[in-house]
Amino acid sequence: MKKDNNKPSSAPRNGASAGAMEKIVSLCKRRGFIFPSSEIYGGLAAIYDYGPYGAELANNIKKAWWKNMVQLREDIVGLDSAIFMHPKIWQASGHVEGFADPLIECKKCHARLRLDHLLEDIGVLADEKMSEAEISKLYKKNKKKIKCSNCGQADFTDVKKFNLLVQSNLGNFTDDWSKDPVYLRGETCQGIYVNYKNVLDSTRVKIPFGIAQIGKAFRNEITARQFIFRTREFEQLEMQYFIVPKDEMKEYEKLKEYRWQFYLDLGINKNNLKWHKHENLVFYAKEAYDIEYNFPFGFKELEGVHARGNYDLSQHAKFSGKNLKYNDQTSGQSYIPHIIESSAGVGRIMLALLSEGYTEEKAGEENRVILKINKELAPIKIAIFPLLKNKPQLVKKARQVYGSLKLYYMCEFDDNGNIGKRYRRQDEIGTPYCLTIDFDSLEKDDVTVRDRDTMKQTRVKIKELKKYFENRL
Ligand code: GAP
Repeated sequence: MKKDNNKPSSAPRNGASAGAMEKIVSLCKRRGFIFPSSEIYGGLAAIYDYGPYGAELANNIKKAWWKNMVQLREDIVGLDSAIFMHPKIWQASGHVEGFADPLIECKKCHARLRLDHLLEDIGVLADEKMSEAEISKLYKKNKKKIKCSNCGQADFTDVKKFNLLVQSNLGNFTDDWSKDPVYLRGETCQGIYVNYKNVLDSTRVKIPFGIAQIGKAFRNEITARQFIFRTREFEQLEMQYFIVPKDEMKEYEKLKEYRWQFYLDLGINKNNLKWHKHENLVFYAKEAYDIEYNFPFGFKELEGVHARGNYDLSQHAKFSGKNLKYNDQTSGQSYIPHIIESSAGVGRIMLALLSEGYTEEKAGEENRVILKINKELAPIKIAIFPLLKNKPQLVKKARQVYGSLKLYYMCEFDDNGNIGKRYRRQDEIGTPYCLTIDFDSLEKDDVTVRDRDTMKQTRVKIKELKKYFENRL
């Protein structure tokens, strides 16, 4: 792997700190990043809404990914396929048969739990890809050690594989809801596979090429845990790269390196990232690695980078009866391309960035909380304050500055409370720069620019602000 440009770090964030997660969840609610869905009705398990700053942050993550994957790459094009697709797609992909997690139910408190997670918790290697028989065997062997994570008892039902596909009655006008179900997509990449021919025939792409898309996916996850890490509705960032079969592993290594660098460029400390190799590969996969991040609850999957052979297109060719071969004009050969994929979740990247950036510092007598997030990703780039709310000449000038900068950057005008409180509020949402218009500003036509991380204050002429931020943002 190429040397990365992440500067030698200070000590990595203490991912094991028990209180960190609660502090992040509390900040997200308090400052309008993430709210429990349908909260006034008591919430809906494993579903979350993004508030004003969460929506900005999610958009910035998606923009950064799209730029990296599509804008900067001549060989990758974008797509936006529908959430609903022909139900046969989910048969071809294996989801109807095999997209299932091992479930056991506690006989005491009736909590439904993922057996592979309970086994992992006691140090036994297990995963959701194991068959019911395989995981039942492991369960029997370790039964005495497994306790319900809800009530602590150890009396469970037998293991059963629970299918994660979410069904809908779209287009079904009968009284029978379960008849001919259509599914809310369980992953976005199926929309890419079934459009591979359309993209090939309508654009100038040639193998090797990729198709990238961002979109919602839905899974009936058994356990709702760890905030936005595992939700039942989430957004994926997926890129499928179509290649000559013999080049699969060479291209795979290139993609791994490219994806690793993406996270370093987002400002994630390399010590908080690691590769995890899948030991239990599905039969068609050549190789599978996950990029894991050191969340407050430990290293967990952020993104999967997998070499999938020609399984996906072969299955869709078989189930649709269509020819999905690629006619290679360079070699004169005709073949089903192999695919390597990169698949990440917006929510998990957001949680990684929040975990990475959450910082508590002593500022004089006070403790300050700062979200030290990459400036490019910060929800608000510049906050503009008139020193005093009740001085019309200060407010007018501050509004003029706000009016001119908002054309270029996401800005916020704030005249609420004293300046100290306004700084604290902006620090907590990660705003890199705060501008204050004071009485000197009226005479000298300048402002104070205060830096989030250093708290250093600099006077800058109003007419030079645009240039000043061009160099910094
Ligand atoms: N097409 C391959 C695929 O979907 P996956 O490992 O199931 O693979 C890829 O999902 C990524 O999607 C994960 O690395 C994670 O970032 C995100 N993801 C998966 N399930 C999720 C869930 N329930 N909640 C939030 N993000 C999820």
